[in-house]
Amino acid sequence: MKTKITELFDIQHPIIQGGMHFVGFAELVAAVSNAGGLGIITGLTQKTPADLAKEISRCDDMTDKPFGVNLTFLPAFTDPPYAEYIQAIIDGGVKIVETAGRSPEAYMPLLKDAGIKVIHKCTSVRHALKAERIGCDAVSVDGFECGGHPGEDDIPNLILLPRAAQELSIPFVASGGLATGAQLVAVLALGADGINMGTRFMATREAPIHDNVKQALINASELDTRLIMRPIRNTERVLANTAVDRILAKEKALGDQLKIDDIIDEVAGVYPKVMIDGEMEVGAWSCGMVAGLIDDIPSVESLINGIMQEAESIIGERLAGL
Ligand SMILES: Cc1cc2nc3c(=O)[nH]c(=O)nc-3n(C[C@H](O)[C@H](O)[C@H](O)COP(=O)(O)O)c2cc1C
Repeated sequence: MKTKITELFDIQHPIIQGGMHFVGFAELVAAVSNAGGLGIITGLTQKTPADLAKEISRCDDMTDKPFGVNLTFLPAFTDPPYAEYIQAIIDGGVKIVETAGRSPEAYMPLLKDAGIKVIHKCTSVRHALKAERIGCDAVSVDGFECGGHPGEDDIPNLILLPRAAQELSIPFVASGGLATGAQLVAVLALGADGINMGTRFMATREAPIHDNVKQALINASELDTRLIMRPIRNTERVLANTAVDRILAKEKALGDQLKIDDIIDEVAGVYPKVMIDGEMEVGAWSCGMVAGLIDDIPSVESLINGIMQEAESIIGERLAGL
């Protein structure tokens, strides 16, 4: 299948693995790229730009195919040294960057001068248009269903994607809630040129995370995610657990008075404990509603091939026969 996204990134299938904190390591990224999709290393999971350089080189050893690096511009007490992370990306010869969170505007000249293609992940049409204006090559449109930060507008993909198609000139991929070939066909019909998946890629053999996390995704239904940090306008969709219950109780009690310090124990430093040690109740971690569609742990290659085969048979058989 050829789309504007497969052409832009020189990949075989229009399937991207979005950056995921403490999940997007070289093992998963290389597996996705080797299977014909676009794997993306999570830049800030690497503690320093030098660590990122090593991770890029490790990934380079595992695949000859294109892969990218995610740079997340989230609210932080002190900004990480983004320019130095970008230098590590440039020096490592990586030609694709996924930005997310705040606008990447300040860093666009640095990225574009190095010939890097930028795909910005955003949750609203206005932010997608801004990304287009500042020179991004593509956007990832992340609907309300998504794992991680869905923004504050709460527009699901069935509305968000056709709205993006009405307004955007640059290509976009659909993100959030996606796991199947039928969904790939659906979002192509809505104007997207591919899909970005997060949660679904966690439940794969190559995802270098604890089995407890993969099992939790299999056990979870579409009803098992919660939205936290709404009162501080940093909404995150996470898998329900006892720590999330505590956060929600504090949010209810404190309302608009809630400060990040009130919930810091349940949200800071949680990822390594969950993803590496498999401590499932230690804090909040991102997870999409798509958990309801996950009931196996395939290899990345069989997941991607399965999605493409399903999509092609729906297009060529079911839809053609209507
Ligand atoms: C565990 C986890 C960690 C994530 N960490 C990041 C991150 O650090 N930066 C980022 O831009 N997106 C992050 N995301 C969002 C994903 O890249 C992707 O946009 C999202 O998962 C898509 O929704 P889905 O999970 O329904 O497929 C994360 C998602 C998950 C599930």
